[in-house]
Amino acid sequence: MKRYVILISGRGSNMESLLAAGLPGACVAVISNKPDAAGLTLAAARGVTTQAIDHRGFASREDFDAALAAEIERHAPDLVLLAGFMRILSDGFVRRFEGRLLNIHPSLLPLFPGVKTHAQALAAGVRLHGCTVHFVTPALDGGPIIAQAAVPVLAGDDEASLAARVLAEEHALYPRVARWFLEGRLQLLEGRARLAGERPAHGALHVPAAD
Ligand code: GAR
Repeated sequence: MKRYVILISGRGSNMESLLAAGLPGACVAVISNKPDAAGLTLAAARGVTTQAIDHRGFASREDFDAALAAEIERHAPDLVLLAGFMRILSDGFVRRFEGRLLNIHPSLLPLFPGVKTHAQALAAGVRLHGCTVHFVTPALDGGPIIAQAAVPVLAGDDEASLAARVLAEEHALYPRVARWFLEGRLQLLEGRARLAGERPAHGALHVPAAD
């Protein structure tokens, strides 16, 4: 049975969607850099091992990342899923887990990296917005794209209404991609996401990476 670890910083709704998806693997730990993250309570309620490593207790980013990496390695995961993990990870950390480290980002990358993505989309006046699941590489929000889901931006949208529409797609997309990885169908090869085998039926706006 494949093993996966989820990293969170807050609410944990993407984590919940992963835990609820019946993935072909075991969630061996949920780890937060914030001790008060609501997601930790949700994970514990599901009987998942939880842990908080407070980044404020470390002198440098590298020190925190080293402690986080050591804790993750203790669980010997095949896959590490960033699910609303709001810390920039050092190059050393990313390289250590490269190829088995995924992130979900609330925009159609490479548009709107960083934070406040829904406000960025509204300010730019785009008609389509969405979310992206990608392999994490040292380039911030710049790793190879695995799949994206798009939603329309509607007249009258504000940040909250747009975020909610995107979040619903996040909850569908991330478990789908995690499943591909845990089934051994998805890998990072020569800087591209490669998906083997049959593609499940998907809507026109729910698009996995081409080979
Ligand atoms: C999600 O929208 C996720 O895509 C985003 O934070 C939110 C976390 O919500 N992640 C990032 O912005 C990463 N750069 P959740 O805790 O309810 O899953």
